[in-house]
Amino acid sequence: MRRVLSVSPIAVEPVRLEDLDWAELFGNSNPVEVEIGTGKAGFLLRRAQAYPERNFLGIEWANKFYRFAADRLRRWNVHNVRMVRVDASHFIRAQCPRESLSVLHVYHPDPWPKKRHHKRRMFQKPFVDATVACLIPGGRCAVQTDHAEYYSVIREVLLTHPQLEEVQFGEPEIGVSETRVRTNFEIKYRHEGREIYQIAVVRRKQI
Ligand SMILES: C[S@@+](CC[C@H](N)C(=O)[O-])C[C@H]1O[C@@H](n2cnc3c(N)ncnc32)[C@H](O)[C@@H]1O
Repeated sequence: MRRVLSVSPIAVEPVRLEDLDWAELFGNSNPVEVEIGTGKAGFLLRRAQAYPERNFLGIEWANKFYRFAADRLRRWNVHNVRMVRVDASHFIRAQCPRESLSVLHVYHPDPWPKKRHHKRRMFQKPFVDATVACLIPGGRCAVQTDHAEYYSVIREVLLTHPQLEEVQFGEPEIGVSETRVRTNFEIKYRHEGREIYQIAVVRRKQI
């Protein structure tokens, strides 16, 4: 019997990600969506409320935002969402169960604009390979950024993967539409008049 270390119904101790079993974590076998870099979890909260028949894991590395997000979600009493503080890149590459995610959301990943920092960017081939392995066939990865150059890199690395194909970013049947809830950074950047770049891909059902 595994020890349950969660300090609240929302917070997941990183140790629980070893040998992770989604059904055990959530107590049901509903589809699972992951959001990387939740910030204050405005998007995650509203999406979890809108889709009670889906499960959500939010991953946030910055302690301040992680604590804010976990507390916010606990106060809203949503039962289908969990938060964990780990490096999401490592989680996707090494811990996330293969063929288990219906959606991976990554909104405004850190762009690391200086050339000498590009190696810190999340969207690189090993991460994308692992993302594909974690998605169920037909599963989706949705990415949004305000950084034009990083966006071109993200597009390139996603669209050169043989198992990924581009789909419309807004697809109402999977709950993403033009009127979808916006992330905190998106609200701020749109207010400033910055351009927002979006891409969604799905894992092909067959190759
Ligand atoms: C620019 S903010 C965007 C927040 C939110 N997605 C939004 O759109 O409002 C990027 C967030 O990703 C988090 N982050 C960056 N790298 C991460 C990693 N490797 N694992 C988990 N979180 C990460 C940062 O701490 C930050 O909160």
